[in-house]
Amino acid sequence: MNSQSPIAQPLLTWFDSAGRKDLPWQHDPTPYRVWVSEVMLQQTQVTTVIPFYERFMARFPDVHALAAAPIDEVLHLWTGLGYYARARNLHRTACLIVTEHQGHFPRTLEAMQSLPGIGRSTAGAILAFSHGMRYPILDGNVKRVLARYFGVTGFPGEKKVEEQLWALADACTPADRVAHYTQAIMDLGAIICVRSRPLCIACPLSAKCVAHLEGRQASLPTPRPKKVRPHRIAHAVMLVRSGGAVWLEQRPPRGIWGGLWTFPQFDRADEALEYLQSLGITGEPKRLPPYSHAFTHFDLTLHPLFAVSDALPAAVGEKAGLWYDASEPAKIGLAKPVLDLLKFCASSAV
Ligand code: ADE
Repeated sequence: MNSQSPIAQPLLTWFDSAGRKDLPWQHDPTPYRVWVSEVMLQQTQVTTVIPFYERFMARFPDVHALAAAPIDEVLHLWTGLGYYARARNLHRTACLIVTEHQGHFPRTLEAMQSLPGIGRSTAGAILAFSHGMRYPILDGNVKRVLARYFGVTGFPGEKKVEEQLWALADACTPADRVAHYTQAIMDLGAIICVRSRPLCIACPLSAKCVAHLEGRQASLPTPRPKKVRPHRIAHAVMLVRSGGAVWLEQRPPRGIWGGLWTFPQFDRADEALEYLQSLGITGEPKRLPPYSHAFTHFDLTLHPLFAVSDALPAAVGEKAGLWYDASEPAKIGLAKPVLDLLKFCASSAV
């Protein structure tokens, strides 16, 4: 046990009775299985991740299966999880593990961290969970626990504050039972030390927690300084042919929806109308209610135009495109707004 750590013993005792021990990635915690789970959990909650994880593992049981798969199929299994750069990095890393590491994950933090999509915390979690190596982690939940317990002020996204939290995370990580400790501190952040109205009464650390003792739970960790979020608008053309298939085009590989399939999309309404006219569709298209989606750094409002036409050429536009039939879905990645709007197409049978 790390005798310097004021939190390891109470956390481990709490974990033995209340921690999560039956999550899918806790069974047979190979570096591959832990890695996929940690990447899925980077921005998504456990309950959402579980069914995605099970499907992903059934289809890609090991790193070789993942590396051999077309990226479109990986994105397909990611559809609905969001933050698709994670899936693209996952695939790139699988290819690197096979080509440069003989199919084995590295066992040092430095080599692990050099792989796409694996930062210091994810690298530490993989080594701790799969090999019991003593490395600290510092995801959002752990930042909150440590900032409150030690009374660390300042936005954790700031370099100085983050460095301070890393030093504390390191000092608190025990040498023994490191996998249980790591799970315990994540679970405490997810279940007890939640952002609003934490359950301090059930917390094994409350006796010495600065935030609890001083009633500062609501102001720790210090929130991100306020900035105006940009708001973008786009006009999406939903072209449906008889039988109900919808025209989708593949986005270029970079950017927020890189490699995903979306409706033809335009910055201005008149461009969308011109596009319809170029396909021989005249008159007013049906306008659907605006659809809003929050990305990490901006909000997007899509204004969907809905048009039915049989007179379309087989391929519209110059980009890669396909007629998407929801009753026989192609194995492609779809952005969440597209998935939702496709449901509308399905319900307004043509
Ligand atoms: N969040 C990130 N990693 C996790 C894990 N192993 N269990 C639960 N939540 C997590």
